[in-house]
Amino acid sequence: MRTLTGIQPSGTLHIGNYFGAMQPAIQAQKRGDCYYFIADYHSMTSLTDAGERRKNTREVALDWLACGLDPETSVFWKQSDVPEVCELSWILGTLAPMGLLERAHSYKDKVAKGISPNFGLFAYPVLMAADILLFDSNRVPVGKDQKQHVEMTRDIAIKFNQTYGETLVVPEEEIREGVATVPGLDGQKMSKSYGNVVELFGDEKAVRKRIMSIVMDSRTPDEPKPDADRNIAIQLLKLLAPADVAADFENRLRAGGLGYGDLKKALFAHYWEFFAEFRAKRAVLAADPGYVDAVLAKGAERARATAATVLQRTRRACGLV
Ligand code: ADP
Ligand code: TRP
Repeated sequence: MRTLTGIQPSGTLHIGNYFGAMQPAIQAQKRGDCYYFIADYHSMTSLTDAGERRKNTREVALDWLACGLDPETSVFWKQSDVPEVCELSWILGTLAPMGLLERAHSYKDKVAKGISPNFGLFAYPVLMAADILLFDSNRVPVGKDQKQHVEMTRDIAIKFNQTYGETLVVPEEEIREGVATVPGLDGQKMSKSYGNVVELFGDEKAVRKRIMSIVMDSRTPDEPKPDADRNIAIQLLKLLAPADVAADFENRLRAGGLGYGDLKKALFAHYWEFFAEFRAKRAVLAADPGYVDAVLAKGAERARATAATVLQRTRRACGLV
């Protein structure tokens, strides 16, 4: 049972990335056979600053390692170190219907926001299919926003197998109820591109300020709040605090008597505590200048060995060799 997922180095990671994709991926290490990578080719569809990409790649690698990715058991690499993925992407692209790609939500959303699309953005799901299929992946832990991309991967794999014979493993997405979409500070999906994030390893003062500035309604502390479960601070507290603690805050908010300021203070305290151990580990890893490069170099070597086998099988199936 192989697990694979990737995260783009397009900005600073946030707790939505952690709960939606990283935590399930890290827990999946218990099953063994895990493949995790930094999707730097994908980040080119939205980020054109080379220095920024290089810096983000290192930061994202440190984030993963600090949160418990074990590079000895799991294969961990940078996407562009295994350029075979581009060849598979071409092959799959010849079977990906235009209509399928035109229906992609993430593509349509970006166009609707006024981004003028390039070919890379349009072809993004094909490259993602190649990422997944190149490693015979069975399970793909992602947040709900990526569900359609994994479904497209399945469609493309099935079409390949129908066209050229059983060759590619058809994967499934792994989406956790409860964290499928972590809300941002404004109530929309938490996303790097919406400026509504709680950073995974944010600066203490800055994150406290952001949390304390969450906009709430003007009801007084004493008023009962029957909609307490829809409060953003409560929703985030459910991820960050032990279940009984979060339930207690929710009950107090519902009953009346808990002020929003106190609720936000508790949210910050639990956030800080939740990531404390990871934060300490990250500081140790970051102090070793060669560590990340060495880990990614070794990971790329292991990833390439698997990729070469699957690519050769694929080439053979479609008559390239
Ligand atoms: P962003 O929207 O911030 O740019 P990415 O698209 O890079 O995030 O997502 C990386 C991974 O994190 C994906 O698996 C994605 O589904 C997951 N993810 C991102 N935001 C959230 C969220 N708010 N809730 C749950 N999962 C999320
Ligand atoms: N598209 C994913 C995102 O934006 C990142 C990604 C690229 C990915 N390739 C992947 C995720 C393969 C899972 C599997 O979040």
